[in-house]
Amino acid sequence: MTRSLTRFRSVIAGVGGYLPDRVLTNAELAQQVDTSDEWIVERSGIRQRHIAAVGELTSDLAFHAASRAMAQAGLGPDDIDLIVLGTATPDQTFPATAAKVQARLGITRGAAFDIQAVCSGFVYALAVADNFIKAGQSKGALVIGAETFSRILDWTDRTTCVLFGDGAGAMVLRAEPEAEGDAGATQRGVLSTHLHADGRHQDLLYVDGGPSSTQTVGHVRMVGKEVFRHAVVNLAAVVREALDANGLTADDIDWIVPHQANQRILEGTARKLGVDPAKVIMTVDHHGNTSAASVPLAFAEAVADGRIRPGQLVLLEAMGGGFTWGSALVRV
Ligand code: ACO
Repeated sequence: MTRSLTRFRSVIAGVGGYLPDRVLTNAELAQQVDTSDEWIVERSGIRQRHIAAVGELTSDLAFHAASRAMAQAGLGPDDIDLIVLGTATPDQTFPATAAKVQARLGITRGAAFDIQAVCSGFVYALAVADNFIKAGQSKGALVIGAETFSRILDWTDRTTCVLFGDGAGAMVLRAEPEAEGDAGATQRGVLSTHLHADGRHQDLLYVDGGPSSTQTVGHVRMVGKEVFRHAVVNLAAVVREALDANGLTADDIDWIVPHQANQRILEGTARKLGVDPAKVIMTVDHHGNTSAASVPLAFAEAVADGRIRPGQLVLLEAMGGGFTWGSALVRV
């Protein structure tokens, strides 16, 4: 196989988000489990979340978000040769949800596969797609984070069921040839990605089922306080790592788009880094934690309302079960 000597970088061509219609408020939850709006807002910042309708699947949410991202990019099915979809709640154990989305979008070229890194799924998927593009193996990539977490929640467990929601977000990456001498943080596109995992902490956040272990889907289990502690430390470290790798300081960043787990985690991380909280895109109050969907959903919302604009420097970061965590620095 011959490979061109041209170097490519991934430029963001479009983004899109999709949330199911049904909104579940804290007040409604308080009628189902022993909790209150005050407790949920004070401990997490969450006021409401969206829940997929009966029969509405992860692939449905992903399809809508992807369609919007492709429309914004002005690209059609023939322009996409790679789909990488982050999810912990696939429609089925197999085929990959990415393959279902591919078929529904009318895409017949290239590869489509899922990535399992829970809440870091989108950042992992973005890193993989970026590396395919850099290697010259993709010209147009669809990166998706999509979840129906409501399907794996134990709705009698107040320590978890109040925190999560359903949704999907998508980003289209287009390969652009890197011009001679075109490097550094002034160029458009994905500037760096950094991924990490530490499987020693898997008992702090997991699902108590699976095809190989119980032959069931299982429910989310979490030691919240411990996850919180690790999240603030790891997220601050991964942001510093991205800044150092690009010779930047926190002041150079226009926006941080973090995984939306808990308002206190977002504020704690910003404080640790000395980042102005006004630069942190926050959607956890109205989306809850949508796992792999949260970063692209927040990104799409901030593009749609005009906060994130072309030319700006945006840092995406996430942490999730595994533990997994990572960052992506992009110039829009
Ligand atoms: N309503 C009312 N009371 C509750 C609820 C609830 N929904 N849930 C727990 N409580 C009670 C507990 O039982 C406990 O009672 P006790 O003191 O009598 O034992 C008390 O509230 C305090 O519980 P803590 O767990 O200590 O509360 P904390 O302040 O740590 O907040 C929370 C809990 C919100 C889960 C927090 O720890 C957190 O957000 N952790 C991060 C977890 C996370 O974000 N996970 C998402 C996936 S991973 C990721 O995305 C990074």
